[in-house]
Amino acid sequence: MRTICVNTAPSYEILIENGCFPRIGELVKPVVRGTSAVIVTDSNIGPLYAKQAADSLGKSGFDPHIFTFPAGEPNKTLATVGEILGFFAQKRLTRADFAVALGGGVTGDLTGFAASIYLRGIDFVQVPTSLLAQVDSSVGGKTGCDLPQGKNLVGAFWQPRAVVIDPEVNQTLPPLERKSGMAEVIKTAAIKDAEWFDQIGTLPDIELIARSVDIKRGVVERDERESGERMLLNFGHTVGHALEKAYNFTGITHGEAVAVGMAAALRVGERLGMTPAGVSEKLTRLLTQYDLPVSTTVPMDQLIPHIAGDKKRQGDCINFVVLEAIGRARTLKIELTELAGLLKL
Ligand SMILES: NC(=O)c1ccc[n+]([C@@H]2O[C@H](COP(=O)([O-])OP(=O)(O)OC[C@H]3O[C@@H](n4cnc5c(N)ncnc54)[C@H](O)[C@@H]3O)[C@@H](O)[C@H]2O)c1
Repeated sequence: MRTICVNTAPSYEILIENGCFPRIGELVKPVVRGTSAVIVTDSNIGPLYAKQAADSLGKSGFDPHIFTFPAGEPNKTLATVGEILGFFAQKRLTRADFAVALGGGVTGDLTGFAASIYLRGIDFVQVPTSLLAQVDSSVGGKTGCDLPQGKNLVGAFWQPRAVVIDPEVNQTLPPLERKSGMAEVIKTAAIKDAEWFDQIGTLPDIELIARSVDIKRGVVERDERESGERMLLNFGHTVGHALEKAYNFTGITHGEAVAVGMAAALRVGERLGMTPAGVSEKLTRLLTQYDLPVSTTVPMDQLIPHIAGDKKRQGDCINFVVLEAIGRARTLKIELTELAGLLKL
């Protein structure tokens, strides 16, 4: 078992092991209280894994219940949060009980947010089943949902009590979703670790997950509330989130949108003279190797209104992340009007 301790308030452990899924109950028992647990999952993952998770929790002495919502980003809404909260109340969860987020980033964000506001906050555990959630979204305590006006506009910082990762569940992950997770792996290496960037193609999932998570751990520990260094993790996400919104959250995965966003951020960095020649080529080559898109047919000027709705906007400016080298990123404050010009193809 690989154990990575995240020293936030409260602190928690990320447990990573191939084949550990059937032992979820035993693994979370030391860090949760209460007797009841609600497993929140989506309509794709529920039929594959929810019963096994419930059996494991049952064996460890918990009383498990399963709540399933329709899969997909379009359901990452306040309405779904309301349904989860209603289910918690119907099952009479108390402050001592806990929720289990069994699924990808959508499930994790929704479950964590519902846990953060139910009875003013109950415990939750992350059991991420998509590569994207394993390498990124399950760690760091950002939870929330989308609004019709934009992505992740509602939410809370709410740390899980534990994150349990079994890379073997990725065997059922659709190839498109695997690709999506690789975009976040590549992003993490691109902003923080040049040496690892060069090894990405040669590593098994467990190594990709452990390294990504450890990098994110360091960033989150140094800047839990995203007032500085944590913003670097948004590399590619300003344009990426706007693109997801332009697609109305269907027909493009989060990772694909982030890949296009990274390519756009490289262009911005080059035009500002901050991203040296060669960096862009290296990163876009790796993205293309994983069949991730580096361009879009959506005109960049159509994205500006969505970027203006981004939560990273401050007045007329946006905090935008550029690469100075592979493994080194920095945040710039750019006026939206200037950014519109820099993004033009
Ligand atoms: N909180 C954070 O820090 C953070 C960071 C990055 C991304 N996110 C959020 O994460 C979301 C994207 O996450 P995602 O890509 O995991 O989306 P997702 O949760 O929608 O999962 C993607 C798809 O894969 C399916 N799936 C997941 N695991 C599976 C498995 N093992 N077998 C079969 N099917 C499986 C899901 O049902 C879904 O259809 C976005 O909403 C994004 O905003 C949050």
